[in-house]
Amino acid sequence: MAASSRLIAMLRSARAVAVLTGAGVSAESGVPTFRGENGLWRKFRPEELANFEAFIRNPQLVWEWYKERKRVIQRIQPNPGHIALAELEKLFPDFSITTQNIDNLHRRAGSKKVFELHGNIERNYCVQCRADVSNEKVLQTDDVPRCEKCGGLIRPDVVWFGELLPSDEWESAETAARHADVYFSIGTSAIVYPAASLPLIAKRAGAFLVEINPEETALTPGADEFIEGNSGAVLPQIVEALKTK
Ligand code: OAD
Ligand code: ZN
Repeated sequence: MAASSRLIAMLRSARAVAVLTGAGVSAESGVPTFRGENGLWRKFRPEELANFEAFIRNPQLVWEWYKERKRVIQRIQPNPGHIALAELEKLFPDFSITTQNIDNLHRRAGSKKVFELHGNIERNYCVQCRADVSNEKVLQTDDVPRCEKCGGLIRPDVVWFGELLPSDEWESAETAARHADVYFSIGTSAIVYPAASLPLIAKRAGAFLVEINPEETALTPGADEFIEGNSGAVLPQIVEALKTK
């Protein structure tokens, strides 16, 4: 399905556009989503891996899983959806992406203003002294990586179950939602809060709410426009439509 001419006209005069993305925008790059048929949570029980207690109990196991995911993510590339979003950023005075993804693909595609609600798997830090540790260092070690400064455990900079979202990223995301003329929810099942509240915050503040997803979600009935399809197909069409006079 393509964007309506009404949406394209609205975008032509929009000043502030904000986007929320989820695992679906990276699906076409080969990153599995969380809840689909081959979803990550079908293969691994999140409570065993993605929480701090599990990490303290068995850092070896948690690191095996994250090193594997880091290597997979390093190998894949941004897809036409990520690239179209980076293009869109150049067309509006105020444009931002809030992502629930940790794969760093928006930045790798060239997007500049990206708020990462769930962290970034390509960053790591020491749980004791908070020093940042490069991905190369982490991937070089076969064992559990340790801090060179204080000997503390290094962890990936991702938000685990039971942890708070980074407050500065959240505040930026919320401000973007409040000020958007048009708000897009793309490739997310929109069920994990507080991220899922952002499209609703935007709509309540007056934004025209657009959803792009091959399937309907809990958000669909509240969206002003639902574009059924893959982000890698729909987003380039929108960029194309905006660029042709
Ligand atoms: P989900 O796996 O819950 O949802 C992925 C969504 O993407 C579904 O609605 C799919 O229909 C849609 N989708 C699949 N392929 C697509 C494509 N090519 N184009 C567009 N959409 C597509 O993933 P999220 O909503 O991102 O949190 O999950 C949210 C959070 O749940 C994750 O960030 C993670 C997890 O717990 C943490 O790790 C903290
Ligand atoms: Zn340290």
